[in-house]
Amino acid sequence: MLQRQIGLLYILLFFWLAACGSPPAPTPDAEIVPEAVIAPDTEIAPDTEIAPDIEIEKDIEISQDIEVEQNTEIVPDAETAPPPKIEQDAEIEAEADPLVQGKLIYDEHCASCHGFNGEGQPNWQVPDDKGVYPAPPHDNSGHTWHHPDAQLRQIVARGGASPASGMPGFADKLTKEEIILSLEYIKTFWGEEERAFQKERTLQTGG
Ligand code: HEC
Repeated sequence: MLQRQIGLLYILLFFWLAACGSPPAPTPDAEIVPEAVIAPDTEIAPDTEIAPDIEIEKDIEISQDIEVEQNTEIVPDAETAPPPKIEQDAEIEAEADPLVQGKLIYDEHCASCHGFNGEGQPNWQVPDDKGVYPAPPHDNSGHTWHHPDAQLRQIVARGGASPASGMPGFADKLTKEEIILSLEYIKTFWGEEERAFQKERTLQTGG
């Protein structure tokens, strides 16, 4: 009888142990599961909280980028914009200067024969085989400063008086203003005395 009771106890102990052995495993699992469920929730919560922070930071970074881009755009504009304005101003001033205009006309239409400094062609007083004179100088060594303005304008517009003249007429190429400008530039080749003399001749002849 006692043996059966002990045997029953063993059996009970076995089941108890067996029961104790297996339940502890599910129990922690069941405990881990809720924790795992809670954990993601608490993790998601901070994530969603961090996420807007990150987005705000990105927004701040983007807005800073935009500010930087605007700044870099303003800086080159400030550096590049004024020089062209100055150049344009210089060009406008240069164009407005009658002597600069006169030089441009002279260099293009007259210098090939009369020289860039009005030095003329060599042996300008000696005609060639056909009786054509080389281009004379326009500086102090020539005769240009002997003539009044009206006569000089006439020579340039109509060309040399003689049919054998090597001086072409410019009436069809240059306006009266352009001819005057080229002659005003020629006057810069003269000395003070030559300028005064030519001015007096112009006043005496009425033009
Ligand atoms: C193809 C060459 C040539 C070109 C280009 C030329 N000339 Fe002449 N020029 C001459 C020659 C040659 C004479 C001398 C005329 C003569 O012997 O009849 C002369 C004479 C003159 C004279 C008279 C000088 C004097 O002492 O009486 C003036 C002024 C003159 N040229 C101005 C100009 C101007 C201004 C231009 C440009 C707009 C010009 N020439 C372009 C060849 C040229």
